[in-house]
Amino acid sequence: MNAHDSEKVIGTLVSEGYRRVPTPEEAELVFYNTCSIRDKAEQKVFHRLDQFKRDGKGKTFAVLGCVAQQEGEKIFEKAPHVSMVCGSASYNQLPQMLVQLEAGNRRVTGLSLDTADTFETPMTRRDNPHRAYLTIIEGCDKACAYCVVPFTRGPERSRTSTSVLAETRQLAQMGYSEVQLLGQNVNSYRDPSAAGWDFAQLLDGVGRVEGIRRVRFTTSHPRDFVKPIVDAIEANEALCNHVHLPVQSGSTRILEAMRRLYTREDYLRTIGWMKASRRPIAITTDIIVGFPGESEEDFEATLGLLDEVEFDAIFGFKYSRRPNTSALALEDHISEEEKSRRLAIVQERQRAIQIRRNAEYVGRVEECLVEGFNKATGQWMGRTSQNKMLNFLHPAATDLTGQYRYVRVTRAGPNSLAGECVN
Ligand code: 5AD
Ligand code: SF4
Repeated sequence: MNAHDSEKVIGTLVSEGYRRVPTPEEAELVFYNTCSIRDKAEQKVFHRLDQFKRDGKGKTFAVLGCVAQQEGEKIFEKAPHVSMVCGSASYNQLPQMLVQLEAGNRRVTGLSLDTADTFETPMTRRDNPHRAYLTIIEGCDKACAYCVVPFTRGPERSRTSTSVLAETRQLAQMGYSEVQLLGQNVNSYRDPSAAGWDFAQLLDGVGRVEGIRRVRFTTSHPRDFVKPIVDAIEANEALCNHVHLPVQSGSTRILEAMRRLYTREDYLRTIGWMKASRRPIAITTDIIVGFPGESEEDFEATLGLLDEVEFDAIFGFKYSRRPNTSALALEDHISEEEKSRRLAIVQERQRAIQIRRNAEYVGRVEECLVEGFNKATGQWMGRTSQNKMLNFLHPAATDLTGQYRYVRVTRAGPNSLAGECVN
């Protein structure tokens, strides 16, 4: 989401007459997009701002994104060399803010969260020429006890299906074959226009756009993950065999404390629909260890869930206290050492699962979208529909980047597959 926000901001700057330079050193105006999902990411921001101060004589600095939204004008005090602070909900005001900046204003802010319209720029500078990100919904109406997002990105705003389809068609015409639909809570999408499409209908519509060969989406919330989404994947070849469905914990008691709005059993029922599908859907998830009050028994429930679901990949995090969140008021905060211990156990357990699951691919032929060439290994790097990295040998001297190739898997590791091209 943040990477795509940066693409939109760059597009806006370029259409306002600015020119992109390769490094911050060469820039007169430095825009720094930030993340505050965990404390570590936020600390990095202030460290980098300090660095900018030392190396940035004569430059103008702007802080964007979630740290900007969260800290607001306090950033001017902590980092007086910063001249502009702007959260993601105000990016559509950037052109006016740039005018103020150029007029010499050194305290420009864009911090309102009640922006009704979803950020759409006339120009987006996409980094990857084959896979395009596309925002369909912004913000989040949930209130998970640990999460800062509702405070930094504001309430949910969906785009109309007409506008999403128009952008998809435009992308296809520009040569993109894969689109990745984005939203903090992508599957609570609801078309605000008269058509009133839900997420499953939108997925199907995007998958039917001529020239679009792959559609991905992230991130889904289990509470809003309904069976028609799986049905849409089954019915439409262009929808990829991959669902990222963050579970956070395998303990119903902790899920309740997290205010996740589902139980372990609810989650497993949803997983059951995907496992029963005739499409081989890869499932990935996010796990938080060490949420306040997480007992050894709760933690064991998470490990048990990993074994039961056999995820294709997980992103594991140590619980991090965030400003404004309701979990701050909970007791029984767990020590850093204990969180690290639990995270290491989760990752070790998952590694064994991935080795086992990936080994099942050996001998199969998978379609890959080629992402590039790795000079060090002499292999092409491809991505399967399940979003697995598949490295392969190919005799061609021409550039395969952006093309689709069929590859027979010959080897499997915990994090990637390797094989040989069969066409
Ligand atoms: N501490 C740790 N992890 C968090 N995440 C979100 N907030 C926190 C937090 N306070 C994780 C969740 C989410 C992912 C994007 O980041 O697992 O799904
Ligand atoms: Fe955060 Fe929960 Fe919203 Fe996801 S659903 S962005 S974890 S509050």
